Amino acid sequence: MSSAGCSPARVALVTGAARGIGAAVARGLAAEGSALVLVDRDEPALAALADELTGVEVLAVPADVSRADAVADAVDAAVARFGRLDAAVNNAGVPGPQVPTADYPVDAFWRVQQVNVGGVLHGLRAQLPVMVGQGRGAVVNMTSGAGLRGVPGACAYAASKHAVIGLTRTAAVEYARHGVRVNAVAPGLVATELTAGLEADEFAAAHPVGRAARAGEIADAVCWLVSDRAAHVTGVVLPVDGGLTAAVPGLA
Ligand SMILES: NC(=O)c1ccc[n+]([C@@H]2O[C@H](COP(=O)([O-])OP(=O)(O)OC[C@H]3O[C@@H](n4cnc5c(N)ncnc54)[C@H](O)[C@@H]3O)[C@@H](O)[C@H]2O)c1
Repeated sequence: MSSAGCSPARVALVTGAARGIGAAVARGLAAEGSALVLVDRDEPALAALADELTGVEVLAVPADVSRADAVADAVDAAVARFGRLDAAVNNAGVPGPQVPTADYPVDAFWRVQQVNVGGVLHGLRAQLPVMVGQGRGAVVNMTSGAGLRGVPGACAYAASKHAVIGLTRTAAVEYARHGVRVNAVAPGLVATELTAGLEADEFAAAHPVGRAARAGEIADAVCWLVSDRAAHVTGVVLPVDGGLTAAVPGLA
């Protein structure tokens, strides 16, 4: 195997980086030696993570990913600081209210799309031209098991995560010849603040492995996908879900 086939990303941008899966991805990429651009709307939490990550260069950019201009500015700041962008992880997301579809508040539905779908679109619009210019780059978009299945009470979240898969596959086929790979990771239940209010025990038990994921287990898959070890992998939706999407309900 050539050493180039194992190289991690040199400069990586992560959205929703301040906590949960995004923070675990940031820690994983830092451990591999990547310089980091960390984006989140929670400025104090972002600053705390940046302080924690010693040994690599870190640029913290407070920004709301639902705003196209803010995401474009973050990518511009990354290129201004580091001169390149090898990897981007469009991870920021919100769950939205839990309400049956017929009663779902329309404003809340669109707010979820603005963050979960808009955030990915805004990321791709800013990141892809930089990567095309370099002739290489890798993007991972964070979808969910809710991007592959219906989830009662979560039409906005499920619609947004299905849309992330459509964005991922389309960008993957559009930019493959430019040396840019675009993939998605679909976690099942991950123990983070986002899931703290859910009936975690029952849902966790439905996973064939019998438990929720740790955020670091999702990060490991992301770090592999953005590295050159996944050089021939593009357009995939990788479940990292302890077998959840493979299981026949009730027989796991
Ligand atoms: N936790 C799970 O079980 C699970 C499962 C499947 C998919 N996911 C997805 O993984 C991603 C991360 O989830 P998590 O569990 O780590 O969530 P989390 O709530 O722990 O962290 C999300 C981070 O994103 C940031 N964020 C939210 N909206 C933002 C915005 N508009 N602009 C900038 N930053 C914003 C928050 O400040 C927070 O730091 C989300 O896209 C989520 O849908 C999570």
